[in-house]
Amino acid sequence: MGRVLVVGGAGYIGSHVVRALIDRGDDPLVLDDLSYGHAWAVPEERLVRGDLGDADLLRRLFADHDVEAVMHFAGLIVVSESTRDPGRYYRNNVSATLTLIEEMVKAGIDRFIFSSTAATYGVPQQVPIPEEHPQWPINPYGWSKLMVERILADFEVAHGLRSVVFRYFNAAGAHPDGTLGEAHEPETHLIPLVIRAALGKGDLKVFGDDYDTPDGTCIRDYIHVSDLADAHLLGLDRLRASGASASYNLGNGAGYSNREVIRTVEEVSGRTVPFTWAPRRPGDPGILIGKSDRAQAELGWKPAFPALEDIVATAWRWHTEGHAAREAVLG
Ligand SMILES: NC(=O)c1ccc[n+]([C@@H]2O[C@H](COP(=O)([O-])OP(=O)(O)OC[C@H]3O[C@@H](n4cnc5c(N)ncnc54)[C@H](O)[C@@H]3O)[C@@H](O)[C@H]2O)c1
Repeated sequence: MGRVLVVGGAGYIGSHVVRALIDRGDDPLVLDDLSYGHAWAVPEERLVRGDLGDADLLRRLFADHDVEAVMHFAGLIVVSESTRDPGRYYRNNVSATLTLIEEMVKAGIDRFIFSSTAATYGVPQQVPIPEEHPQWPINPYGWSKLMVERILADFEVAHGLRSVVFRYFNAAGAHPDGTLGEAHEPETHLIPLVIRAALGKGDLKVFGDDYDTPDGTCIRDYIHVSDLADAHLLGLDRLRASGASASYNLGNGAGYSNREVIRTVEEVSGRTVPFTWAPRRPGDPGILIGKSDRAQAELGWKPAFPALEDIVATAWRWHTEGHAAREAVLG
């Protein structure tokens, strides 16, 4: 068994997958430029600092490390920024990824696992959203991910590159042991923003109280980051067992509203969460829930942390213990 190159492995989701790979005896190597990731999130001896679009570096890594598979998490992820600066998103998320894939083909590596997104579906025509749902993104971020999905399909026909594409819904939570978690800067995700507000570390705005949902606020599908990590291990097993390429939604199949998230943080923390109401944001559908039965049926994946209380409890632990301790040391 060769090594797994985890591109973007110092980021939020990638670092949890690296930990899960190590825990089960795999031998991951991380490539990350640390533009958004953190050196502390991965073991030092496994981290190579560099850009995924650097063809020379990729050639060297493939030649020196007996890489058998690539997992690709490295992407720019802020939807609103992608609308303001699409060129940066297409360059990083599409062009650089194309370089990575081409170098894999040249090196004879044919197993690829890709972090795609529910944003490739655009405005849902039905919920829960199945994988067959039309993909028509409404922002450059979503398009950049869909373009890579297209590239992968074409590279399979031309070069036999096999891939597992995971379309995540809202990644959330933290490693249950409290030592790894979400540390995005800027942070745009709801659960850490609610936790920060509970800790008195930032203003929380809730966008829209007049959606056609039971309590008027948006409903999203939160999936625990450890459950995402498990899916990646199963996806890798599938490719190692010569399984065919496939695309899978990864969500927990249940939606939670913004109000429920705030209430759950209040319950878990024992604090009141201050927030202000703001108007709906353009492009925010009322309900986004994924249908993730295919991953369960074909990969044997089963989320271990489907309850919002557990997701929030692990995130709270990270923000008040692991992350807080690190901030106290680093300032
Ligand atoms: N977080 C979510 O809820 C979510 C939902 C759907 C899809 N995704 C996708 O999952 C992936 C991981 O998301 P995340 O939340 O862990 O993001 P993240 O920002 O924490 O991690 C991305 C990592 O990629 C690295 N990176 C970016 N560009 C790079 C480059 N050119 N070369 C080398 N490294 C580079 C960053 O430094 C960072 O460590 C992304 O591709 C994202 O689009 C995330």
